[in-house]
Amino acid sequence: MKLNRNYLNLEESYLFSTVAHKVSAFSAAHPEAKILRMGIGDVTLPLAPAVVEAMQKAVSEMGKKETFRGYGPEQGYDFLRESIQGYYARRGIALDVNEIFISDGAKSDLGNILDIFDTDNTVLIPDPVYPVYVDTNVMAGRKIVFADANADNGFLPMPDDSVNADIIYICSPNNPTGAAYSAEQLQAWVDYARAHGAVILYDAAYECFVSEKGLARSIYETKGAKECAIEFCSFSKTAGFTGTRCGYTVVPQDLKFDGVSCNKLWLRRQTTKFNGVPYIVQRGAAAVFTEEGEKQIHENLAVYRRNAKRLCDCMDELGVFYTGGKNSPYVWFRCPGFSDSWQFFDYLLEKANVVGTPGCGFGKNGQGFFRLTAFGSEETTIEAVERIKNLLKV
Ligand code: MLT
Repeated sequence: MKLNRNYLNLEESYLFSTVAHKVSAFSAAHPEAKILRMGIGDVTLPLAPAVVEAMQKAVSEMGKKETFRGYGPEQGYDFLRESIQGYYARRGIALDVNEIFISDGAKSDLGNILDIFDTDNTVLIPDPVYPVYVDTNVMAGRKIVFADANADNGFLPMPDDSVNADIIYICSPNNPTGAAYSAEQLQAWVDYARAHGAVILYDAAYECFVSEKGLARSIYETKGAKECAIEFCSFSKTAGFTGTRCGYTVVPQDLKFDGVSCNKLWLRRQTTKFNGVPYIVQRGAAAVFTEEGEKQIHENLAVYRRNAKRLCDCMDELGVFYTGGKNSPYVWFRCPGFSDSWQFFDYLLEKANVVGTPGCGFGKNGQGFFRLTAFGSEETTIEAVERIKNLLKV
């Protein structure tokens, strides 16, 4: 028996587990401290009433012989896929229902999709970025090259024709930097991918936070994207489903390599390894797209946007360089007075009892940077801003 030794090449623990352990240790040593958690991007507002109502109705259906349902379609129920199709259509993007696959969240599918690609591919990953892209490829032993994101390029790296890549990750609005590509910038990536015969894995988990005109919410806003890109999205950040689990992945019919359809391979993979998202959860997700549901989730998103604005105002007041916060629930800033993100993490935790996420956990270019989330409650965010200002003002 041989282990997958690629796992030995991973960091010892997943970034957010390391943060959680450090916070637990601090809390145990200082039980009196009122710790404000602004680290992991987990939502705090409850599910919208329209979602809860739809789920309750679905629970009742499951409790009656006439309406009980067993296994559902692995790729999701048509009622939800059609709602998602409508959501894209309202933004001028035509999708076939068969191109939409319901998942238990973007994170799972971003890892699972790699099943349909050979391990002998070179992967291009922005640095810094959501650690799941690197870790899942390290687990498979793929060769990884990085696209440097930094203050000079506004944390939005552009393609470099001298780099050869087969699989390209793009996350926009970006986790952790909050930077978001325009449709023209994405077009350059799509053109690069097509010229290089590469596939783009586009993580759109934060698209609902895009508010500025000209910024893209989907890779399919560009020409030719259906021939080179898969898009991943989630109800986690849009509708508070982090604990409920539901997302979707778009694999266009036109996406083919050597004449083989990625849509077909993904369907084959899903029907073999996945039994679908619970009916009750999918009913709740579909309610997100009703008139009432949409209105309610927008009220929740407005709270997170206000929090993001508070964090941006705080950085403006302190004169600290930052990105994000405007089209994103994350504010990404240069650690004032520290070149090491973990040292700043400890300083903020010890002196202000505020938890954030060290930028170096997202890649080498994140060293010296720090991420705060706007997904906390308004009270937590207001208090955290006060504590940060008091600690860092000169
Ligand atoms: C984060 O904090 O980066 C996110 O919560 C991680 C995730 O969505 O899995």
